[in-house]
Amino acid sequence: MTDVLIRGRVLTFVREPEGIDDTRAYRYYEDGAVLVANGKVADVGSYADVARQAGSSVRIADHRPNLVLPGLIDTHLHFPQTQAIASYGAQLLEWLNTYIFVEEQKFKEPQHAALIAGRFMDELLSNGTTTAVAYCSVHPESVDAFFTAAEERNMLMIGGKVMMDRNAPEALRDTPGQGFDETKHLIGKWHGRGRAHYAISPRFAITSTPEQMEMSRALVAEHPDCYVQTHLSENKDEIAFATSLYPEAKDYTDIYARYGLLGRKTLLGHCIHMSDREISVLAETSAVGVFCPTSNLFLGSGLFDRDRFDKLGARHAVATDVGAGTSFSMLETMDEAYKVLHLQGQRLSPFNSFYMMTLGNARALDLEHRIGSLYAGADADIAILDSRAKPAMELRMRVASSLAEELFVLQTMGDDRCVAEVYVAGQPMKQRREGPAKHLA
Ligand code: GUN
Ligand code: ZN
Repeated sequence: MTDVLIRGRVLTFVREPEGIDDTRAYRYYEDGAVLVANGKVADVGSYADVARQAGSSVRIADHRPNLVLPGLIDTHLHFPQTQAIASYGAQLLEWLNTYIFVEEQKFKEPQHAALIAGRFMDELLSNGTTTAVAYCSVHPESVDAFFTAAEERNMLMIGGKVMMDRNAPEALRDTPGQGFDETKHLIGKWHGRGRAHYAISPRFAITSTPEQMEMSRALVAEHPDCYVQTHLSENKDEIAFATSLYPEAKDYTDIYARYGLLGRKTLLGHCIHMSDREISVLAETSAVGVFCPTSNLFLGSGLFDRDRFDKLGARHAVATDVGAGTSFSMLETMDEAYKVLHLQGQRLSPFNSFYMMTLGNARALDLEHRIGSLYAGADADIAILDSRAKPAMELRMRVASSLAEELFVLQTMGDDRCVAEVYVAGQPMKQRREGPAKHLA
């Protein structure tokens, strides 16, 4: 693949910032460049240094004065809910039954699944998101559509077939045996193919019987290199229902612990109404709590307590949770994250926000050796951000005087219009976005 030298203001993190003044947590090159060769980052630094090493024949993509960042990472969303965003007026269980369990039935149809999967990937890319962890529907066809669309774009994507064998419409239920067999088949087909990773996905304790949880345990034991994704403690009615179904468990977290589902590769959506005991179990098992701010506000679920996760040493990540989440944009997600934390007296510096969307989420996935930061050897997944993309932003930026201020403007006012370009394994993707969906179902 041809080499390209991407020029702009390069920003990449090397560790979690300890505060707004922690300049050693990141590298920032005002006139910087990223040299890409064969889909990988070959060099990062000042433009003068990198250009000298690249030689005079290299093609230059000049993105000045825009920012050059690692591609953004979304650690929890639902691809079959792409057309169910903005479904009015209900809390979690009613919202699932009224809207989501109707919508997801459409994904039995491979053509529909393929159409939405393509649009879903393009929507992620146009928001600067190059890697995401997604739930597919219960239908294996939806997983094929998901990974096919990712493969066509060469995106590093993580996903899996939802398993549900109760408390859902018959058309969306599998059985413990079927969930096991289909998941095993899909892992064999997709996990490790190109940039694909599989996530074993029992939806949540409410929709899986103890038999299906046992089957999930067996899948995880047989495939320790796969991710595991489920939901935990999002909503008070959900917690009461889940714990009533598993009376032997100490609490909601203990349900998953008893079935061996908590480990370093486990991603637990929401984790809002948790005791110290439960958060400590996540810390002990290295499981990751996933903060989904737009979703938690939209469904009226509650406020994620990041400081308690940090105090108790539990890992956490951040995500859109489309379609309860109201935007595909990680910028808009961090805007809401800031507000959710602010309401609880917790601070989120702009540097911490940008760390979380990039290296922080890569670390939560144990993928920091490939994505989430720009250094020689990393995958060349890159987002180009324009902090003056909207007239009101341009006006605001006229009086901004620091990088911290610019990042805060980007997260507070920004959206997909601020993503000037996105590169996947070194290839520019924004212009290949499909046109309006004339043929959309
Ligand atoms: N809990 C179980 N399924 C879902 C889902 O699809 N969205 C959200 N927000 N929570 C869930
Ligand atoms: Zn979810």
